Amino acid sequence: MLYFEKIMGTPLTPYNTSESKKQQVATMFNNVAGTYDFLNHFFSVGIDKLWRRKLVKLIGKTNPKMILDVATGTADLAIAETKLNPDKIIGVDISEKMLDVGREKIKSYPSIELQLGDSENLQFNENTFDAVSVSFGVRNFENVPAGLSEMRRVLKPSGKVFILEFSKPGNWLVQKLYYFYFCNVLPFVGKLVSKDARAYTYLPESVRMFPDGQKFVALMQEAGYKNIECKPLTFGISTIYIGEK
Ligand SMILES: C[S@@+](CC[C@H](N)C(=O)[O-])C[C@H]1O[C@@H](n2cnc3c(N)ncnc32)[C@H](O)[C@@H]1O
Repeated sequence: MLYFEKIMGTPLTPYNTSESKKQQVATMFNNVAGTYDFLNHFFSVGIDKLWRRKLVKLIGKTNPKMILDVATGTADLAIAETKLNPDKIIGVDISEKMLDVGREKIKSYPSIELQLGDSENLQFNENTFDAVSVSFGVRNFENVPAGLSEMRRVLKPSGKVFILEFSKPGNWLVQKLYYFYFCNVLPFVGKLVSKDARAYTYLPESVRMFPDGQKFVALMQEAGYKNIECKPLTFGISTIYIGEK
């Protein structure tokens, strides 16, 4: 916890209100839920789908029967995970509107169940899931160490957590292009299309503030994970982190 506070400083919040970060994040995702999927695939030119596919391939190596997808949003990752034929996939999110969009999408996937729930205070018994996944969610947690601990608590012994999150590219040129796109193009188009202008200025800020790479590995170690793997994707624009209970 101390390490996290030292590297994070004051927490970044979407809006400048007296509400908790969690409430503000839920409001922001409720606001953008209707355009979230479109903008997600548009901004990433579909690469986000490839990243999720790669994550699912790695999850598949553990042959999980019970999967928990936290911060599931509109359920894209949960749907991709049905390819693994698990008995059950439970998706939880704090944004009711994101889940509403997800509920429309999962109608033909009976193994998926979506629930309103907080990743930092999961309502499941310990040792319940073979795998816990989260894509582009941990960056938005109010308390990242609490989220990491909770995900570990609900994993069965030797179960694994699979985390996909934006990271900062290492290459100087890629970094320049990336920040230009993230800080200029993305907020401009995001403001035009979504109902929430702040959501798409918050996105690059939250990526910049996020402790990625070895800093995140250190947080996973503090939460008690072992055999941690850190796999940068596409010039390090995103990274997959895997940890074992
Ligand atoms: C960028 S979206 C990612 C959604 C989805 N996983 C995907 O890959 O498209 C982040 C999601 O995290 C959710 N979220 C943020 N903090 C959360 C928390 N503490 N518990 C559950 N969900 C949370 C938000 O409501 C939002 O739906």
